[in-house]
Amino acid sequence: MADTLNYDTLVKEIEDLVKEKNCGPILIRLSWHDAGVFSSGALSGGCPNAAMRFTDAGEGTFGANAGLPTVALTLLKPVTEKYAETGFISHADLWALSANVATKVMGGPDVPTRFGRPDAKESSESVESQVGRLPDGDKGVVHLRDIFHPKGFDDKDIVALSGAHTVGKCHAERSGFEGAWTEDHLKFDNTYFTHLLSKKYEAETTANGNPQLRCPVSGTMMLTTDMALLEDEAFKVHVERYAADQDAFFSDYVKAWVKLQENGCKDLREKL
Ligand code: HEM
Repeated sequence: MADTLNYDTLVKEIEDLVKEKNCGPILIRLSWHDAGVFSSGALSGGCPNAAMRFTDAGEGTFGANAGLPTVALTLLKPVTEKYAETGFISHADLWALSANVATKVMGGPDVPTRFGRPDAKESSESVESQVGRLPDGDKGVVHLRDIFHPKGFDDKDIVALSGAHTVGKCHAERSGFEGAWTEDHLKFDNTYFTHLLSKKYEAETTANGNPQLRCPVSGTMMLTTDMALLEDEAFKVHVERYAADQDAFFSDYVKAWVKLQENGCKDLREKL
């Protein structure tokens, strides 16, 4: 069977899955949290390795990853069984490719995927903790820099990457935050930035006790970390640029996103 598999059918099956299940946003979040634990600061290691697929311990049990080993991997299961479990592609490469296909399907930029991320073989190959590696939505400017600078990202990258919140939703039963950042949460465009600049948000507390912000007119929300992008001039200039120029957002997003997906990886190749 393995010899009938090829790259084009894999991409097509991911495209179909994203369209049928409207699961583009969670596939982006899966890749981001696999790669986003990387740090080269006081903490080290954490290159993307699909360690989240083990749920006995480690990344698959991190609170920050709630919904990813369950909802995202269940959605991806038919593709995983056919292509990753037969050895055609590593799980980590499949997660990276799925996010990039999803971005495109939702109207976002073309993102090149390179291949060769080795998979963790067990949960012990996880990083030790999410603390200091993955961001908390109820924190602010200093926290954003503390998390992203040791991954090699500057202020512009932080703003561009945050723009992924133009798609998707917060789920009470996963993060404890609630709502979508934009009205069309399946369209990848620069609406996140235009909303940040144009809407008035009011503080609220979710049923789970989490602080967040909501626009009473549109019903869309923002996390404290999203609003932090307006508080600091070095962030805000980029919010303004991306709100005015979607091409500039896409171009900077692709550079930062590819770097994120490849952080700590060695010897990646252009072709699967
Ligand atoms: C800047 C700091 C960030 C914080 C604090 C943050 C926090 C969150 C939270 C709390 C959720 C809701 C999860 C849920 O309840 O299902 C979420 C969703 C999401 N995040 Fe982020 N995030 C950040 C950065 C990023 C980055 C860098 C990306 C990708 C480039 C990203 C992509 C997404 C996507 C696509 C969703 C929607 C998932 C879905 O609809 O299931 N986020 N984020």
